[in-house]
Amino acid sequence: MDVIGGIFVFWLVMSGVKSEEVNSVPSCDFPAIFNFGDSNSDTGCMAAAFFPMASPCGETFFHEPAGRASDGRLIIDFIAKQLGFPLLSAYIDSIGTSYGHGANFAAGSSTIRRQNRTFFDGGTPFTLEIQTAQFNQFKARTAKFFNQAGWRQSFLQKAIPRPEDFPKAIYTMDIGQNDIAAAINRVGKEDSHDVISDIVQHFATQVQNLYKEGARTFWIHNTGPIGCLAVTMHNTHNPVAGYVDQNGCVNYQNDMAKEFNEKLKNTVVTLRSQLPAASLTYVDLFSAKYQLISNAKKEGFVDPSKICCGYHEDANDIWCGNKGIVNGTEIFAGSCEDPSSYISWDGVHYTEAANRWIADRILNGSFSDPPIAITHSCHELGSP
Ligand SMILES: *[C@@H]1O[C@H](CO)[C@@H](O)[C@H](O)[C@H]1NC(C)=O
Ligand SMILES: *[C@@H]1O[C@H](CO)[C@@H](O)[C@H](O)[C@H]1NC(C)=O
Ligand SMILES: *[C@@H]1O[C@H](CO)[C@@H](O)[C@H](O)[C@H]1NC(C)=O
Repeated sequence: MDVIGGIFVFWLVMSGVKSEEVNSVPSCDFPAIFNFGDSNSDTGCMAAAFFPMASPCGETFFHEPAGRASDGRLIIDFIAKQLGFPLLSAYIDSIGTSYGHGANFAAGSSTIRRQNRTFFDGGTPFTLEIQTAQFNQFKARTAKFFNQAGWRQSFLQKAIPRPEDFPKAIYTMDIGQNDIAAAINRVGKEDSHDVISDIVQHFATQVQNLYKEGARTFWIHNTGPIGCLAVTMHNTHNPVAGYVDQNGCVNYQNDMAKEFNEKLKNTVVTLRSQLPAASLTYVDLFSAKYQLISNAKKEGFVDPSKICCGYHEDANDIWCGNKGIVNGTEIFAGSCEDPSSYISWDGVHYTEAANRWIADRILNGSFSDPPIAITHSCHELGSP
């Protein structure tokens, strides 16, 4: 970290100045990104580990399935673009990958805490603790290869980060939505408040583990409005008063996401004092996504409960890219004509157009605490 710049920014943040002024310090020049998360930022982990993503996923940008649950790019892809990097390869993928500018450990269905599920009932073994263990192994093994004389001039050296890149890299995290989904499924069977506190505690442990490995700059997304997932809104008919908000989002589900976010934010504040050399930026993704959903029409999108890809009519739900039988006829659940006018790609995941809209708003720091653009997020000295 640039100490002078850091102190300068610290003073600016403490004196409550606008992010434009904070951003007048030099940009961080991150050499790499290491990302941890779930399907919101999985760029090919689950597709490489299990089954490939089904067409029409990827149709808008990649023109073929590209391991992402979207028609195109995800927020993490726009982060990579903003920082001047190629798209991030999934750590577990072994074909056509390059790790010269980082690696992506995110896995669809992933949770912060372990769940009692396997891949075959909708889970993944790649929980956050496994993702950080994979990172530790990645760091140790790439360092070993890098320092072997035989490899020194080889092309492989360009395909892996330099050991000195790890402390200077940005560590991005977007996880928790599937933990909240699991807690929603167990409402009434457990104390949700205790569960949410425990989820956040497990998250903090993994941030501490990454810090011990030398990670210093953390860009942490909070969790989105799970009660506004199109598949939920679409299937909510004649709700009783108070069940949904003015946008059709399920209130108690969003309240659980908000409780998680409040506890996450408090934990980030605690981590700042526990990890004095770290810069931790808390990004209010919930508000960015909710703003898009609330203003869908004004922003040029169709009703946020509409799903671009999949078949969801007459009590039939056929997932995007799958086939199913409706009234005795086989139906392929394909995509809508213009995915760029939809917020929801498949009922759970966002379209490239929505991801771009959200990335445009969060990357300049306007939804961050402190309000620092991602390009400058290494300069924060943290709040007391
Ligand atoms: C998983 O099952 C074990 C044993 O039944 C239980 O103790 C644990 O709390 C469960 N975990 C979750 C996340 O439900
Ligand atoms: C299936 O049958 C129901 C009830 O008759 C009807 O409303 C619906 O439009 C039919 N769907 C298709 C895809 O044919
Ligand atoms: C960030 O970008 C958005 C979208 O272009 C804009 O509305 C907002 O004012 C910007 N905020 C800052 C702090 O630059």
